[in-house]
Amino acid sequence: MATVLSVSGSPSATSRTARLLRHLDARLTAQGHEVIPLDVRTIPAEALLGADFGHPAITGAGELFARAEGIVIGTPVYKAAYSGLLKSLLDLLPQYALAGKTVLPLATGGTTAHVLAIDYALRPVLSSMGAAHIVQGWFTLDKDIATGDDGIPAVAPGAAEALERVVDQFSAALGRASLLAAAG
Ligand SMILES: Cc1cc2nc3c(=O)[nH]c(=O)nc-3n(C[C@H](O)[C@H](O)[C@H](O)COP(=O)(O)O)c2cc1C
Repeated sequence: MATVLSVSGSPSATSRTARLLRHLDARLTAQGHEVIPLDVRTIPAEALLGADFGHPAITGAGELFARAEGIVIGTPVYKAAYSGLLKSLLDLLPQYALAGKTVLPLATGGTTAHVLAIDYALRPVLSSMGAAHIVQGWFTLDKDIATGDDGIPAVAPGAAEALERVVDQFSAALGRASLLAAAG
């Protein structure tokens, strides 16, 4: 099974995107993957905004990317694209930080008008960073992500089924990639 880095690019302290990712992390863990969560908002702002390539938090994030076979990238849609916070980290990673990786792009947003933001905005950036395989992504409406009284994220039934499907496709793609790697 694979090591998966699960990256949330929301600056919000009560982020729906992060909650959604942590919910999906549990499914990946149950499938046998080692999942490492990374909230970009926990990286010091001076490192991200000052383009401090040598800052331990930036080199540490780079090492997590290097170690993972699979990367989940989650972002809120801001102004019809992915978040600036996510871009500030991606800009500080090596050009081919996603080389050989299987990537699952996910977005949350307030309107279906921007359901294609993953494909026209995020996917080209992931490709430019050398991703070996970008599996089908998914856009989830913010109103479909809630938190129950127990603090556990609750995803509306239709959205939950769609997300489970894309996560399972990602997991299957990771399995195929590891078989290919083992075959040399
Ligand atoms: C500054 C800002 C800009 C936004 N722009 C868009 C947008 O262009 N399209 C959209 O569908 N939702 C937009 N939204 C709504 C968020 O994408 C949505 O609520 C998302 O789930 C927030 O995720 P978060 O809680 O992880 O930050 C915007 C929200 C903010 C705060």
